[in-house]
Amino acid sequence: MDNNSYLNDLFINTFSVDFSSYFVNQDIFNSITSKILSHVDNNATKKFYDQLQVCDVSDGVLSLSENGVVCSQFKAGISQQAIDDLAYYLRPWRKGPFQLGDLLIDSEWQSQLKWDRIAADINFFDKTVLDVGCGNGYYLYRLAEQKAKFSFGLDPHLLYVYQFLFINSFMPKHNIALLPLGWQDCHELKPVFDHVLCLGVLYHQKDPLVLLASLKRVLNEAGTLVIETLVLDSDDDSVLEPVDRYACMRNVYCIPTVSILKQWLLSVGFGRVDVLDISKTTVDEQRSTLWSSTHSLVNFLDSTDDSKTIEGYPAPVRAVVKASL
Ligand SMILES: C[S@@+](CC[C@H](N)C(=O)[O-])C[C@H]1O[C@@H](n2cnc3c(N)ncnc32)[C@H](O)[C@@H]1O
Repeated sequence: MDNNSYLNDLFINTFSVDFSSYFVNQDIFNSITSKILSHVDNNATKKFYDQLQVCDVSDGVLSLSENGVVCSQFKAGISQQAIDDLAYYLRPWRKGPFQLGDLLIDSEWQSQLKWDRIAADINFFDKTVLDVGCGNGYYLYRLAEQKAKFSFGLDPHLLYVYQFLFINSFMPKHNIALLPLGWQDCHELKPVFDHVLCLGVLYHQKDPLVLLASLKRVLNEAGTLVIETLVLDSDDDSVLEPVDRYACMRNVYCIPTVSILKQWLLSVGFGRVDVLDISKTTVDEQRSTLWSSTHSLVNFLDSTDDSKTIEGYPAPVRAVVKASL
């Protein structure tokens, strides 16, 4: 099998839905495809692909446990050890949890808690959704479970894309796709999405307005943008720009108050902004597990005062806001 054919199988043909029509035109889709295939053509991808061959479960069925674990049930007689080994190889698992056969992948984040804060107010049934910075695609499965028409995830981080492809091989028949692209590629997509989700991405941007404008462009006329981001829990108009690190993260550039976040959204052309939730991030939601790294939120907070990060900034509080045109 030549390189291009296995990469095509892995990254393009693996989905049960033809998503090429969501790109501005076929030439753009072709050039994006070439860009993806050259980006992922490396030894790690080939090794992953070879390992993945033992996990091809065409009869896998998606289900959801009571406490928000995305599960696959399947009859195919594949070795549980092979599943466990590949899942372990793909650590760290930041987002989840997932259950594959007997294996529970207990991720660092209990992502179902964030999902509950978002989905309580939005009906995704029969909608077309874009999840920008979707990580390993946990929310794509929550959308599939709500019978969204089509859910498209973008995340440039290859490990998370491998995790998605691994999970997807156990529940392959949904109207979802995830491509290794960033929000900077949004302009290649048609403005057809009913909902754009962008969760946990804004604070990583040096220029948040450019991101917000790019996300607005891919919405249809009745579309809504859902932003989840770190905020300052204060009534004033200010933005924290951490010097060096915030909660041990190097790449946090802006943490606005909710008032500033609303102003940013209005300034890029949204007509209405609703705050759906404001929650302090807890050590029950983000914690170290066997499937993640040894350090997590508890280590990123001041050990004598958990209202502060280890650097002395306000501890993480996150807001979910919905913006409409
Ligand atoms: C804090 S995580 C949030 C993941 C997920 N959206 C969630 O809320 O659980 C940030 C994600 O943004 C992704 N990311 C990094 N650069 C990006 C870019 N240029 N465009 C889109 N996503 C990006 C990272 O790979 C990571 O998965």
